[in-house]
Amino acid sequence: MSKRQIESILSQLDASPTPRHLVSYLTSKLLQANFVDYSTKELQNTNLGFIARAGSLIAWKKGKQTARNGFRIVGAHTDSPGLRIKPNPDDRKFGFNTLQVEIYGGPLLNSWLDRDLGIAGHVVLKSGDMKLFRSANPVARISQLAVHLDREVNERGLTLDKHLHLSPAWSSDQKAPSFLNWVAQQTKCVVRDIVSIDAQLFDTHKAAVIGADSSFIASGRLDNQASCWAAISALLESQSGQATQVVALFDHEEVGSESATGAAGPLLEHSLEQIAAVQGISRIGFLEILSKSSCISADNAHAVHHNYPERHDLSHGPIINMGPALKLNSNQRYATSSTSAAMFISACSKAKVKHQVFVSRNNMPCGSTIGPITATRLGIDTVDVGVPQLSMHSSREVCGVSDLTSLQLALKAYFN
Ligand code: CO
Repeated sequence: MSKRQIESILSQLDASPTPRHLVSYLTSKLLQANFVDYSTKELQNTNLGFIARAGSLIAWKKGKQTARNGFRIVGAHTDSPGLRIKPNPDDRKFGFNTLQVEIYGGPLLNSWLDRDLGIAGHVVLKSGDMKLFRSANPVARISQLAVHLDREVNERGLTLDKHLHLSPAWSSDQKAPSFLNWVAQQTKCVVRDIVSIDAQLFDTHKAAVIGADSSFIASGRLDNQASCWAAISALLESQSGQATQVVALFDHEEVGSESATGAAGPLLEHSLEQIAAVQGISRIGFLEILSKSSCISADNAHAVHHNYPERHDLSHGPIINMGPALKLNSNQRYATSSTSAAMFISACSKAKVKHQVFVSRNNMPCGSTIGPITATRLGIDTVDVGVPQLSMHSSREVCGVSDLTSLQLALKAYFN
């Protein structure tokens, strides 16, 4: 991976503690590359465009002359599991001012302990305006109980009560600002103008390249912002081709995708239909285009863990830095079909990158992605792929540098 690409992925990760921050960061990159923002205006027949909706984003590069040659779609998700601040969060306990949190998705809870946490989110104002914010410094901490007070923790494992043990302490002075007052300071707003707040904790430790050979990237939210990076940078760098190239990034995957802006909602279908309609293509024409279209759903896979090989099917377990994984599940937890697999394999060979295969053990439940959901909604052939990583859903995950490069190159080859 070039130095420029490394900087590009690390700065995206650091700039994006929440899905909305990610969408705001990516749309600024798209605007710099002359993509037109149709989020709040009527879509026109242009070559480059995007629609941002809350934490989701659809961006496209029109095919040569027409949309009739089909859509090549790369999908990924913008959200990551973590801890969200509840609406009435303020509490005071034994000298600490604490915040009440709600668990979003399925985080590795222990990974949130003993970290220097920041708070990021957005406010909605009386005027209807929305304002993003993030703390410049670490402001909160969820401390683990000392080993002296939990003597068997290393033998029986850590047990956390989800309601009692996850509240961060964030100040000690009784006169310290309430959460609402703090958010008002952060957003430079007057308290009475703030109608609602959406906020979450994030690890302030910056994304980093690690390893004696600099072959790993460690960061929060690699699942799935790593795929978002690969998708958007492939779109930005690709030549326009016969098919219309589309990147679809959805919020709410970690909680099932069923929301107004999730993959189970109408956002992608409506956007594709609009792109076709402004080119004078009828509904029947649009349905024909869908039959010529395809989708790559990119979401990280479990690399074989060096300390837990028994948790993997070793004939179908991706090895770190040996290429992106093609994810298969005959029970359709992944959307990959024989034909969509062939499409991804040929993109990899065109890009001259290796790929691997992932199938989970029969006695391990298999995760899922937006792949089967978009395939079900649109009826288009879809393949599930992903960069192998460890510590999935930890507040700090790790993946391989060269796998990320390979995925980006394969997506570019697919677009063209
Ligand atoms: Co994911």
